[in-house]
Amino acid sequence: MSDEIKKGLLGIVVDETEVSKVMPEINSLTYRGYAAQDLCEYCRFEEVAYLILNKDLPNSIQLKKFEKEEKDNRELSKNLYQVIKNMPKKSHPMDVARTAVSIMGLEDKETSNSSLEANMRKALRIFSKTPTALAAFYRIRSGKKIIKPKKSLSFSENFFYMCFGKVPQKEIVKAFDVSLILYAEHSFNVSTFTARTITSSLSDIHGAITGAIASLKGPLHGGANEEVMHMMNKIKKPSNALKWINNALKNKDVVMGFGHRVYKSGDSRVPTMREYFGKVAKIKKDKTFEKIYDIVEKVMIKKKNIHPNVDYPTGPTYHLMGFDTDFFTPIFVISRITGWSAHIMEQHAANKLIRPLAKYKGNKHRKVMELNYR
Ligand code: COA
Repeated sequence: MSDEIKKGLLGIVVDETEVSKVMPEINSLTYRGYAAQDLCEYCRFEEVAYLILNKDLPNSIQLKKFEKEEKDNRELSKNLYQVIKNMPKKSHPMDVARTAVSIMGLEDKETSNSSLEANMRKALRIFSKTPTALAAFYRIRSGKKIIKPKKSLSFSENFFYMCFGKVPQKEIVKAFDVSLILYAEHSFNVSTFTARTITSSLSDIHGAITGAIASLKGPLHGGANEEVMHMMNKIKKPSNALKWINNALKNKDVVMGFGHRVYKSGDSRVPTMREYFGKVAKIKKDKTFEKIYDIVEKVMIKKKNIHPNVDYPTGPTYHLMGFDTDFFTPIFVISRITGWSAHIMEQHAANKLIRPLAKYKGNKHRKVMELNYR
C-alpha cells in the first residue's frame, strides 16, 4: 500500500458512474449521454430531472406522470410550515434547506426503506417539497404571507410564484430553467461525494441530502455564486472593475466564480449560462453587471489563465431576476437534488463502504500514568 498522500483526493478515481460525464479536455458535459447544452436548448427542467433520475428522457406519458407526481407532492406538512415560521429570521436559507430536508426525513413514512423504489419515491418528495420550504422562508423572513404552491404552474414558474406572488415573462423563466439544468448534475463534486459517502454506510436518502446541502453551502463549492454577487456589489460600477481586479490579484486574493478542480481551460456550462445572463440583462435593461463581468473575466484569463466557472454568470443572473443574494445557493440545491438522488441510488446499487486511510502525524505513543501530577 502506497503512503503517498493525495490531498483533496486530487486525481483519484474512486468509483464508476453512469449519471454524468465531465470531459475537461474538450470542455464538455453530458447527462446520461446527452450534452448539457442540447438539454438546455431542447428540454424543460422537468424533462432533465426525469432523465437524471430515470436514466432516459421521458416520453409524453412518462413526463405527464412525473410532472403530476412532482406537483402533487409540493405541499408541506403543517408541522414543517410551523417549524419554518419559528426559525430565526436571520438564518441562512441553506441552513433552512438543510433543516427542512432533515425534518422531511422525520415525517416521511418510508425513511427506513432504502429500496430503489422507495428511494425514487422519497427523492421525488424531497425534490417537490424543498422549493416550497425555501419559498416559505423567503416570504416569512420579510414579514410576508406564505404563498402556497400552484399546480397549474411548472417547477420554475411555481418557484417564482411562491417567492414573488407572480410569474415573470417566459424568457426569464427559460433562463431560470437553463440555470437549473446546468446545476442539476456534475459527477463526483464535493457535495455529491458527501452524499455518496453518507449513503455508503447504508444511511438514508434524507440524511445523505441533508449532508450534501451542508457541503454545497461552502464558498469553494455552491456558495461561490453568492460570493460572486458580493464581489460585484463591491465593484459597484464598470469603471471600478479594472482597478478592483488588479488589486485583488496583487493581494493574491481568491476571485470567486473562477477556477475549477476539473476544468482548467474553461467550464463547459459557462457559454450557455453567459448567453442567458445577457438575455436577462437585456430584458431588465441593466448592463452594469455584464460590463463588470467582462472586464474581470478578461483580466483573469489574461493574467492568470484562470477561467470562470458556472457560478460566475448565475450569480448576477439571479440578482437581476430579483432574488436575494443568499438565495442563490439554495436555488442550486433545488436543482442538484436530482443529481444527488441519482448518485445515492447508484451508490446503493453497488455499495462499498467509503473509508480512506490517513497518515498519522500526532503525538508518539504516551501513557496516562507517566504524567507527574497524577
Ligand atoms: N482566484 C485566484 N487564484 C486562483 C483561483 C481563483 N478563483 N482559483 C485557483 N487559483 C490559483 C490558486 O491560487 C493556485 O495558485 P498557486 O499554484 O500559485 O498556488 C492555482 O490557481 C491552482 O489552484 P488550486 O486552488 O490548487 O485549484 P483547486 O483545483 O484546488 O481549486 C477551486 C479549485 C474551485 C477550489 C478554486 O479554483 C477556487 O477556490 N475558486 C474560487 C471558488 C469558486 O468559484 N468555487 C466554485 C467552483 S465550481
